[in-house]
Amino acid sequence: MDEVRDKKMNEKTNKKMKMLEIEDIIEENKFIKSFYFTDKTITKAEPAQFVMLWVPQTSSGDVDFSTPDQIPMSVSSVHKDTFALTVRKYGKTTGELFKYKKGDYVGMTGPLGRGFSAAGNRILCVAGGIGAAPLLLLAQKLQGRKIHFVLGATTKNELFFEKKLEKLCSTLCITTDDGSYGVKGFACDPVPDMCERYNIDQICCCGPEIFMYKVFEIAETLRIPAQFSLERYMYCGLGLCGHCALDGYLICKDGPVFTSEELKKTKDFGAKKVDETGMKIDI
Ligand SMILES: Cc1cc2nc3c(=O)[nH]c(=O)nc-3n(C[C@H](O)[C@H](O)[C@H](O)COP(=O)(O)OP(=O)(O)OC[C@H]3O[C@@H](n4cnc5c(N)ncnc54)[C@H](O)[C@@H]3O)c2cc1C
Ligand code: FES
Repeated sequence: MDEVRDKKMNEKTNKKMKMLEIEDIIEENKFIKSFYFTDKTITKAEPAQFVMLWVPQTSSGDVDFSTPDQIPMSVSSVHKDTFALTVRKYGKTTGELFKYKKGDYVGMTGPLGRGFSAAGNRILCVAGGIGAAPLLLLAQKLQGRKIHFVLGATTKNELFFEKKLEKLCSTLCITTDDGSYGVKGFACDPVPDMCERYNIDQICCCGPEIFMYKVFEIAETLRIPAQFSLERYMYCGLGLCGHCALDGYLICKDGPVFTSEELKKTKDFGAKKVDETGMKIDI
């Protein structure tokens, strides 16, 4: 009964934006920072659930409340009432966030969407780039099971979470596209061998969609159940605007995590996405 009441309370509170103080900032590498916050609701996030993050623009020196753009960010780790968002600097919003310091406030709505629900005892996590963020939380939550992890980056300077994952996983295989660290190649390359060697029950994957599509094909060939955390341009994050549609699904509400069985029925996975202006473009 308490669980039902808690769930209803969470559903109400996770759709309201709240202002949270940045309590700590860790520079993971030159391009990626983890921001730490305290909140009792967001720490209940399933791996790959996300928040819509509002970063008040500060370049003018003043907080400008006229730009209410929010961007989706996965929860990357949880410890008691504290959680982290691990952010790669891309454009306007993440660029502003990188100027923020401890003690500054940002807005957050969440946790939102449907996360990973890994079945079985031997799990293979496959991460490309910033896709490692939700998979770190998954590795944390699955302690007690055998976690094997492939962490891929374009080059050595782009790698992050190596030390954290070494502690959480039975095996960690690192790949870099240019061979500057770990095994030369893409994160999908070691997947067939690792599935066979460790008798994998379930694959969980997050990263660029072309790479996830390759992992999807490998999982289909090997007949291993797989789940993928997808990205689409999101405006509302609440299932209202329809901008994040993938065939019959809304990524923000029905996903971002989808099973191979669900993705098999779509035409656009690995092929098309909708851009900021609403145009359908090739991935
Ligand atoms: C479910 C989900 C979880 C994500 N988790 C993380 C994470 O943990 N860490 C992380 O660094 N990034 C994450 N992202 C990607 C992140 O949302 C974009 O990098 C961010 O929105 C870029 O914003 P910007 O203003 O800095 O860049 P812009 O210059 O505005 O855009 C750069 C690129 O980011 C993407 N983007 C921009 N705005 C949005 C938006 N509202 N929704 C989706 N994509 C957008 C577009 O592909 C765009 O080409 C996630 C995306 C999704 C959908
Ligand atoms: S972002 Fe609005 S419906 Fe998904």
